[in-house]
Amino acid sequence: MNTRYPFPASPNGWFSIGAADDLVQGDVKPVHYLGRELVLFRGEDGCARVFDAHCPHLGAHLGVGGRVCGDGVVCPFHGWRFDGEGQLVEVPGLDRTPRASARAWHVCERNGRIFVWHHAADAPPSFDVIGYRDDEASWTPWRSSTYRVRVHVQDLTENIIDRAHFGKVHDMAAPDQDHFEVSFSGASMVVEQSLKVTAVSKTGIEVSTRTTTCGPGIAAIEVNQGPLEMLTYIAQTPIDDQLTEVNLLFSMKHLLDEESTKSISELNDQITNVQFTQDVPIWENKIYRERPIITKVDGPVAQYRRWFRQFYSDPE
Ligand code: FES
Ligand SMILES: [Fe+2]
Repeated sequence: MNTRYPFPASPNGWFSIGAADDLVQGDVKPVHYLGRELVLFRGEDGCARVFDAHCPHLGAHLGVGGRVCGDGVVCPFHGWRFDGEGQLVEVPGLDRTPRASARAWHVCERNGRIFVWHHAADAPPSFDVIGYRDDEASWTPWRSSTYRVRVHVQDLTENIIDRAHFGKVHDMAAPDQDHFEVSFSGASMVVEQSLKVTAVSKTGIEVSTRTTTCGPGIAAIEVNQGPLEMLTYIAQTPIDDQLTEVNLLFSMKHLLDEESTKSISELNDQITNVQFTQDVPIWENKIYRERPIITKVDGPVAQYRRWFRQFYSDPE
């Protein structure tokens, strides 16, 4: 992000690097996130793994032509074989293998996504990825949309508490039951609020939402209203120092009537994508004001930024 933001592009935390369903046993893929070249693969034990991409031998990319062997991967260039922990275990034609390894990342598969733990100083995970949809069979499959946006993840999440933009950017009306409450606890920020969405009906639909972030890379928006249980899950991952990939995922608990489930899903998906797209030109062209002028109609921006600082190894 160079001069645009006064902090690193990749904060510390869990970041999604793909959908779990897109990686079947034996798949090996090159991926580029967090300013790094990585190899993502699913071993014969069914576990997803992520290593630094380039082989410690002569630097081939393990994700381009490499293949799964056991729980590990074999380099496409000279056949060096690494186990599931990244340890070198075989060099073709050599009885004793030199001590070498490919750096293995912490991986967590949850909520249909594959997450890696990123920490600038290589510290181990300090929190878990919060799980949702425990009774998965009673929820609809994830609907998903992916965007690449020129914005920092800190600015993306700041949007959740930026109350003053809801009316202006998203055409939301003031809710009849005004409620807006923000709390911070460890790696999570929890925002409970009522919103009046006017994207699909002029009179507006009022909903109570609870948004829970999980570090700098994940936000879950829950709506529980009568028979409706809906979850919008946002996974955002820095690609490099300019771009962030955002996955907007939606799932809801099946209603008795499958037709209603389908139409509500489609409607919600449409609203989420419209609202997201409305923010994009603002995000891509704004600057970061270190000392913004905050008024009482704004959300708790200063508090949010203080909380977010925990995700940088060297806060300014
Ligand atoms: S570069 Fe990987 S085995 Fe030679
Ligand atoms: Fe927004």
